[in-house]
Amino acid sequence: MLDERLSLCARFVTEGGKVCDVGTDHAYLVAHLLSSGKSVSAIACDIADGPLLSARTTIEKNNLCDKAEVIKSDGLDNISPEGITDVVIAGMGGELISDIVLRTEWLKNDVNLVLQPMTKPEILRESLIKNGYEIIKEECASDKNHAYTVICFKYKGIHKENVSLKEKWLGKICDNKNPHNIAYAELFLSKENKIINGMKQSDDTKYIEEHEKIAKVFEDFLKGR
Ligand SMILES: C[S@@+](CC[C@H](N)C(=O)[O-])C[C@H]1O[C@@H](n2cnc3c(N)ncnc32)[C@H](O)[C@@H]1O
Repeated sequence: MLDERLSLCARFVTEGGKVCDVGTDHAYLVAHLLSSGKSVSAIACDIADGPLLSARTTIEKNNLCDKAEVIKSDGLDNISPEGITDVVIAGMGGELISDIVLRTEWLKNDVNLVLQPMTKPEILRESLIKNGYEIIKEECASDKNHAYTVICFKYKGIHKENVSLKEKWLGKICDNKNPHNIAYAELFLSKENKIINGMKQSDDTKYIEEHEKIAKVFEDFLKGR
């Protein structure tokens, strides 16, 4: 059974394709996608030997050796693009995910990217949008400890110079009745409010206006829910 976060990633993967899971760790996502029949074949890759061992164990235990390859790779550097319809990168920082995507040229060939940043989602959105990727859809998952966003990107070749604050901080999260989206907006609003209050107390108000504008993005989203 996958948790909410990885279940949402699985939901965003194209039906009947070949998926590559970067930073697969235990390969739970790959095992789920293959066992459920959602993906026809898969590559589970990781940079580290421990996770690769766990991934191989999961694939073998679930009798998926004929459908899944386990490959050691830094990002997608050792991965051949043949047949890959979907790339999932989940559970890493937004800056690292952005770096992996932007150095992999073949992702521009209509590959569905399912990205789940643990930190700095705003940097991931901004850098990919500026480099010709478009957010196709975005939704949040939450548990009692945290809220996460899962973003689907595709390369469209339109390099935007200016990314609005709303696009940068909320992306395409739009359903303000969805409790997971609400939890995500509340989490980010509370982070911004903490920063704003800290600045007020220390009299270091140089960037306060910028943080107030970011807070307003989340306040507006939460209004009328
Ligand atoms: C926190 S785990 C996330 C596992 C799984 N994707 C998830 O979301 O639950 C991060 C994994 O990414 C791997 N990783 C970190 N940097 C990487 C890179 N540059 N290329 C491939 N894998 C990487 C780590 O070895 C680790 O197994």
